[in-house]
Amino acid sequence: MYNETVMDHFEHPRNVGEMEDPTVVVEVGSSECGDRMKLYLKIEDDVIVDVSFKTLGCAAAIASSSQATEMIKGKTIEEAWNLTNMDVVEALGGLPEPKIHCSVIAEDAIRRAINFYRKDQGLEPWK
Ligand code: FES
Repeated sequence: MYNETVMDHFEHPRNVGEMEDPTVVVEVGSSECGDRMKLYLKIEDDVIVDVSFKTLGCAAAIASSSQATEMIKGKTIEEAWNLTNMDVVEALGGLPEPKIHCSVIAEDAIRRAINFYRKDQGLEPWK
């Protein structure tokens, strides 16, 4: 059902676990299945210098979370904001159609975290 890249991220997720001193932490749930992701970002001068996550979800959600964290580490918040779930799916080499929605949870978490950070800075949230 899953390709090798997806299985590798599922079995050996990158950036998994809690972070001691994050700039922002968010928890989001999938509206489709109720699975959840907790995302920790450490941001310095609008650059994501560290990222970690904990996902309670299916293999596709865990693989997407892992891949997404790899794609935003070292990036500006603007670059991370522009990362879509389909970018993550493409980087994973594809997901089965019924599992595409599982990649949305990571995009939601990243965007929510960035807007928490922006609000904290007294800035307007992005839409
Ligand atoms: Fe819930 Fe995949 S089935 S995230």
